[in-house]
Amino acid sequence: MSTHIGARPGEVAPVVLMPGDPLRAAWIAEKFLDDAQCYSEVRGMYGFTGTWRGHRVSVQGSGMGQPSLAIYATELFREYDVQSIVRVGSCGGLTEDVAIRDVVIASGACTDSSMNTHRFHGFDYAPVADFHLLRRAYDAASTMTGTTTHVGLVFSGDSFYSPRSELMAPMVEHGALAIEMEASALYTLAAAHRRTALAVCTVSDHLVTGEHTSAQEREQTFDAMVDIALTAALES
Ligand code: HPA
Repeated sequence: MSTHIGARPGEVAPVVLMPGDPLRAAWIAEKFLDDAQCYSEVRGMYGFTGTWRGHRVSVQGSGMGQPSLAIYATELFREYDVQSIVRVGSCGGLTEDVAIRDVVIASGACTDSSMNTHRFHGFDYAPVADFHLLRRAYDAASTMTGTTTHVGLVFSGDSFYSPRSELMAPMVEHGALAIEMEASALYTLAAAHRRTALAVCTVSDHLVTGEHTSAQEREQTFDAMVDIALTAALES
């Protein structure tokens, strides 16, 4: 056991899919994996290991925001020797180039979090995706009909309810496509541990148009995203 994960040594697979919502982790395990076993229920942040097309894979909830994700990603890298983490989550569209239900694969992640300000003594580090995971995810997404995929920057914000959303404008002018809350920490921690990471997100709501997806649409787009993530991480 690590501090926040109840798995015994060897119970976590080298590849982990990481949704924010632990109930999504249970749903992915149930719907996509064979022989899934729950390895952790600590704090209700479920983790499961099973197989997908014969490949061993785990699914671990991260909770919302970078401090929470950082706890789980750090313990997976450090204490369970996890090699790759692929975040599967939702994001808010920031530009009219992306529409609700689209998939955004984060090539890099900007942030307003102070986590990297402290880590890099005030210098600006550029957290980026693993190129091979990114390329495979994009290839997998390109073969899917009915899914529009974008590759570009996301903004990992600390505040879901930001009091100053107008401060997003320069980020959007410099290429940020969507806002979520975790990718920047994930990419930084993967680099720190010499492991690989990717964030694949579906656009669940749009900050410019005000549109949002229904629960049923979120489920369908979530399916496509999980397929992309599993293919990218497990089928080379
Ligand atoms: N902000 C942050 N994270 C999100 C959003 C948002 O608007 N939508 C989905 N995830």
